[in-house]
Amino acid sequence: MFADRVLSGMRPTGSLHLGHYHGVLKNWVKLQQQYECLFFVADWHALTTHYGTPEIIEQNAWDMVIDWLAAGVDPSQATLFIQSKVPAHAELYLLLSMMTPLGWLERVPTYKDQQERLSEKDLSTYGFLGYPLLQSADILIYRANRVPVGEDQAPHLEFTREIARRFNHIYGKEPGFEEKAELAIKKLGSRKSKLYTELRTLYQEQGDESALEKARSLLDEQQNLSLGDQERLFGYLEGGGKMILVEPETLLTEASRMPGLDGQKMSKSYHNTISLREDPDSIRKKIRTMPTDPARVRRSDPGDPAKCPVWQFHLVYSDDKTREWVQWGCTTAGIGCLECKSPVIDMVLVEQAPMVERVREYEEDPTLVRNIIADGCERANKLAEETMRDIREAMGLSYS
Ligand code: TRP
Ligand code: SF4
Repeated sequence: MFADRVLSGMRPTGSLHLGHYHGVLKNWVKLQQQYECLFFVADWHALTTHYGTPEIIEQNAWDMVIDWLAAGVDPSQATLFIQSKVPAHAELYLLLSMMTPLGWLERVPTYKDQQERLSEKDLSTYGFLGYPLLQSADILIYRANRVPVGEDQAPHLEFTREIARRFNHIYGKEPGFEEKAELAIKKLGSRKSKLYTELRTLYQEQGDESALEKARSLLDEQQNLSLGDQERLFGYLEGGGKMILVEPETLLTEASRMPGLDGQKMSKSYHNTISLREDPDSIRKKIRTMPTDPARVRRSDPGDPAKCPVWQFHLVYSDDKTREWVQWGCTTAGIGCLECKSPVIDMVLVEQAPMVERVREYEEDPTLVRNIIADGCERANKLAEETMRDIREAMGLSYS
């Protein structure tokens, strides 16, 4: 009924590094070629934890968009926007809050975890408790059915599905829903209405998921059905009312294999990052001073790549031949560590070169990025409005 749509957001809390590139952005670039994609700056989400330092938000937001463009996110293929520039996210967040059980929010595993992890901040706020619900509003407002996120965000997606289900259950019921649905079935024509009824029974009585899939694609193909009837029949399959909100599916992003300079995961809080647009000299210096296998004190001491963070970089960047050379050279002390690092430096710089190239014009002329975001926000506002109309109507707010 609704076309495939991908949505994801990122909080503007610091400059992006190679971990983001390998973990998230490369995936976005791939998705934008396959699907309609919406990518946004989650500035309100950043404020839930950084409400005390608002001055970092705006500059980080612009820098982050430039980093996306550097990575190859393409504004002619994907819609890029800023959350706070689409105020309907806040409206939906408010409306959803009316029917969100407090216990659901308190039980989201990231809630207590993060509060403890970020104990230097006071996160016993209403806004922080509401974090997952704001995320639900972000997703549901575009009826996005695919959301690429890392493992850590999976509970928020599960929560979002529950909210969508609850919303449809409460507000999708219209007076005479069943009768209207039965009438809509008749409009399918005798052969298809029989098929629809059989598939619905199979799903409802035996939980047959493939029957549900078949029935959905049957409805997808119907062109002579009004949108209202089509929505009713989608909802009727699962027993409830009209399907107003779409339950999103998690597109789990594989954890990035990108290690940090010290061998731990690359992360701002470990101070072991290489930024996306870092100065080449600084990159050279950082890699040259990376720790290596501590057993190689002298050049003549053999080492073990398995104990060396540089080897992790070879796993990301090098071909088999280079890796064999490292294995041989390290274990026999045939090469020195600086020698071993040299192809890594080259490959990081080769990877970076097109990124720097792509954003040169954006760095020179800030109005270009402003315009990209202005276009994206306009489009996002339009799309959001389409869903909001249905939501307001369902919740008794369509004054006319
Ligand atoms: N919470 C997400 C994160 O920290 C960011 C985010 C906000 C998001 N809204 C979203 C991700 C909607 C996907 C969809 O990574
Ligand atoms: Fe690490 Fe390479 Fe030195 Fe071996 S030779 S310890 S893999 S940097």
